[in-house]
Amino acid sequence: MSPVLNVAVVGTGIFAKDGHLPVYSAHPDKFNVVAAFNRTKSKALDFAKAAGVPEEKVYDTIEEVMNDKNVTYIDGLLPVQLNPTLVKKAIEAGKPILLEKPIAANMAQAREVVELAEKTDLPIAIAENWSYLECIDVAKKHIQRIGPVVAFTHNSTGPFVKNNKYLATTWRQNPEHIGGFLSDGGVHQLALVTALVGDIDTVSAHTAQVRKESGDCDIVFSTVTVKDSGIIGTFTYGSAFGATEKSVYLKIYGKNGNVTVDLSDKTAPVVKVRVGDCAENAQDEEIYPIDQDSSFGVQAEFLNFHEAVAKNDKSLLVSTPRVAFHHLACVAAFLESSDKKGDNVKVERL
Ligand SMILES: NC(=O)c1ccc[n+]([C@@H]2O[C@H](COP(=O)([O-])OP(=O)(O)OC[C@H]3O[C@@H](n4cnc5c(N)ncnc54)[C@H](OP(=O)(O)O)[C@@H]3O)[C@@H](O)[C@H]2O)c1
Repeated sequence: MSPVLNVAVVGTGIFAKDGHLPVYSAHPDKFNVVAAFNRTKSKALDFAKAAGVPEEKVYDTIEEVMNDKNVTYIDGLLPVQLNPTLVKKAIEAGKPILLEKPIAANMAQAREVVELAEKTDLPIAIAENWSYLECIDVAKKHIQRIGPVVAFTHNSTGPFVKNNKYLATTWRQNPEHIGGFLSDGGVHQLALVTALVGDIDTVSAHTAQVRKESGDCDIVFSTVTVKDSGIIGTFTYGSAFGATEKSVYLKIYGKNGNVTVDLSDKTAPVVKVRVGDCAENAQDEEIYPIDQDSSFGVQAEFLNFHEAVAKNDKSLLVSTPRVAFHHLACVAAFLESSDKKGDNVKVERL
């Protein structure tokens, strides 16, 4: 029997309502949202109503949330520059915390979060839902058939969407997080790429800001090397262009074929495989549709966090602060390389 964990949601903005609450509501046998806090209290009250949280459990301060003995863990969805402070408060209160991605606003903060997390036995995870995508396990299985892997290309491009609900959030309009959308959205792509090809060692990149609405950078074009493997690749990210189709794929090339993860249609992801050591020996393409739930990995990340908290075993966590540190470190390296006109830059390691 899995215990029901009592959750306090800190930061009841867009993603708390649209991304986290639906998963909590779908798993009443595992989660019970019992408290909420938001800077603008009216939004917390609305959230509480939808989540079934009594009004008296809508707190005025984060300290009150932390002091609530009925709360098992904290679900933190604040602008990410506040992540280190929130982790510190949770640890002081002896509560596990699931913290939304990216790990922090900059590398100094990211180092601090990893250090704090690794000094405690409390489960602390970064809610990087792409680390939990179903396509990862399927692709991993087939990558073994096409090896050795020698190269990859990751492309995530799409049109600028004027009505994107996230553009209206003030902390994104004036971002404290490095590279604006590159660290906000780009870390998702980096979670997928690094899960399948390995950690990035060096990058040569050019970044740019195409839209003033993005607040900071919104595109990166780069070449990269993968640590300890000799794999080379390209990483392209940006949704700030004029009309174009949404094109999100990771194509991994081996000496014995290729594997492509295609997420262009989030509702119908697919893994494609072609085996063969040369054109003459190419086998028919194999197509594996992925049965990805609509939460796009959020459900799996919550179930993983639930297990780690229920068993009080942080070694079960998939998206640890150390793993998420690497994703932000890649963004930092893109920015540094671009500042140096595309010079090759080593990705910071812990
Ligand atoms: N995994 C994903 O796919 C995904 C998708 C979207 C977002 N996220 C993450 O979720 C988190 C929240 O993003 P969101 O899109 O939901 O943004 P949001 O709607 O702006 O939510 C952020 C919340 O933080 C509060 N806040 C802002 N500044 C604050 C401050 N200085 N002190 C205390 N509270 C403050 C806001 O309160 P007010 O109501 O007072 O403004 C707001 O309710 C971010 O970490 C983001 O990266 C993840």
